[in-house]
Amino acid sequence: MSSQASSAGWKRTHTCGELRAAHIGQEVVLNGWVSARRDHGGVYFVDLRDRYGLTQIVLSETIADGIKLSPEDVLTVRGEVIVRDAGNVNEKRETGEIELRVTAVETLASAKLPPFEIIDGLDTAIETRLRHRFLDLRRPEMQARLMHRSRFVGALRNAFLARDFIEVETPILTKATPEGARDYLVPSRVHPGKFYALPQSPQIFKQILMVSGYDRYFQVARCFRDEDLRADRQPEFTQLDMEMSFVEEEDVFAAWEGVLVDTFREALGVELEAPFPRLRWSEAMERFGSDKPDMRYGCELIDVAEWARASDFKVFTGALEGGGGVRGLCVPGGAQLSRKKIEAFEAVVKEFGAKGMAWWKAAADGGAGPLARFAAGERAGALMQAMGAKDGDLCLFVADEIPIIYRTLGELRSHLARELGWIPEAAPTDAAAWRLTWVTHFPMFEWDPETKRYFSSHHPFTAPEDWDLAGEPADMTSRAYDLVLNGWELGSGSVRIHREDVQNKVFELLGIGPEERQEKFGFLLDALAYGAPPHAGFALGIDRIVALTAGLDSIRDVVAFPKTASATDLMCSAPSEVPPELLSEIHIRTAVPAPRPGQV
Ligand code: AMO
Ligand code: AMP
Repeated sequence: MSSQASSAGWKRTHTCGELRAAHIGQEVVLNGWVSARRDHGGVYFVDLRDRYGLTQIVLSETIADGIKLSPEDVLTVRGEVIVRDAGNVNEKRETGEIELRVTAVETLASAKLPPFEIIDGLDTAIETRLRHRFLDLRRPEMQARLMHRSRFVGALRNAFLARDFIEVETPILTKATPEGARDYLVPSRVHPGKFYALPQSPQIFKQILMVSGYDRYFQVARCFRDEDLRADRQPEFTQLDMEMSFVEEEDVFAAWEGVLVDTFREALGVELEAPFPRLRWSEAMERFGSDKPDMRYGCELIDVAEWARASDFKVFTGALEGGGGVRGLCVPGGAQLSRKKIEAFEAVVKEFGAKGMAWWKAAADGGAGPLARFAAGERAGALMQAMGAKDGDLCLFVADEIPIIYRTLGELRSHLARELGWIPEAAPTDAAAWRLTWVTHFPMFEWDPETKRYFSSHHPFTAPEDWDLAGEPADMTSRAYDLVLNGWELGSGSVRIHREDVQNKVFELLGIGPEERQEKFGFLLDALAYGAPPHAGFALGIDRIVALTAGLDSIRDVVAFPKTASATDLMCSAPSEVPPELLSEIHIRTAVPAPRPGQV
């Protein structure tokens, strides 16, 4: 039967999203899947679907004789394009003016009943969707997302190629790259007891390409990181990775601004405004409590140390005496919120490590809430002034060490925006929806109290602002930067260390001794000794920008075959056990006891 389908007469002439009034009267062949089906006394109306759209086809009982037309059967149909009666025109559908009067039909493949309907807006459990990803990906909204991703990545590539960047592929079987996560390891069969690491990023290779003279490199690069997964993290993900020589921060920013303006225009029809604002890290933390601030709404952190110092509230004065601070957020009109709602805000700051949250319904007569007894008389007006509050606003305060204040009020600020609807509704096609910002001048190092050592805020190849590395590591500023969009870190980069002596000094500050340095990064140090140009670069998280531009808040929905939060692929059951022979071939013995027969 299906042999006919491959013969010329049965090859599809159009897709299911293509036919319009202009095709009326033509004989065409469509191929696709049976979507909705309605029976109208001797006539069947079927929506035939492929990734381009849906076309209504009409079959008489005689034509459909012996054909099941079950959901998800694959059909080939031949027929005439006819106009729909005025009353039956479907304006929501691009093919809604016409239908196909079928003159011949064949089933190319019949389908079992799917475990869920192939429709948009499905509320089926994600596990079921992932287990049957082949069906999930057949849903029109998933197809639109993957087509969007392809278009977006294609536009990014075009933009880099048009700017004289060359794409170079770097290895997947390689050595550890320090980006702060655990490595995925691959045992070597040929070298017993030795392992490759999958790259956390192409960082070292792209720097080596600069030393080799490829002054404008880019790559659509797959990266692997064994880390805790969240909505914006997958164990394997894709970066648009790039590097440039003889440049500084502003050159990298300008290159990306050009690339993103072109990409948004080509892929989305959006005219982005460039240059994007630049914000120092310290200012981002002060104002928003976050290094990835959402700039679509206000409600900035306010320092009320002066008011707090003169107050009788022990929690506040105690925090200040201990070297900490007191900061607040002012919620316009928030005094009308219930105590229950306000207590839920306190739960948010506590979840992120605050000891508590004081609150005050601002009013010149002393207001209400736990802080009211410290805000009597003149002290009320003074607090309103310090907070920039009006009668009827709600003020929320955290007193603690400064980093805890930033973290908790930063999180509370985003929570308030979601809860209170501060995020302006804007269509993805509206340029105002895209508040891209460069955050610059990150700290060079962070202290890890557990291991009692410094680690790089970005990575150890990031240049310091002061090449002499004078002063305390905790106070050093780096030349790292992030690109931030609507509260998400979209990408990161830095000016690099191109001097072997400075790179060695940074390793020293990180507690990486000469032997470890040589063992892990000897090849980079070698390369730096042979004429390394000043260079800088950046990597954009493709999954994240594709998700955001598709209006989604999980990257899983723009990855064709994603992993669950426990890093498993439910469709192909990876990771999985392997036969003992295979393990012995790669010189591996696992410490996990073999399952007993019958045990799952
Ligand atoms: P970084 O580690 O900041 O920098 O990564 C750059 C961007 O990659 C994305 N990203 C992820 N996306 C999905 N899942 C993950 N697990 C994940 N981890 C990171 C983010 C992030 O901003 N080599 C440097 C870049 C450079 O210095 O040029 C690097 O990899 O969007
Ligand atoms: P108490 O005096 O312990 O009853 O606390 C009075 C108010 O201060 C309560 O609303 C607490 O949630 C709040 N509070 C406690 N610790 C802190 C803190 N570190 N920062 C801000 N408010 C706090």
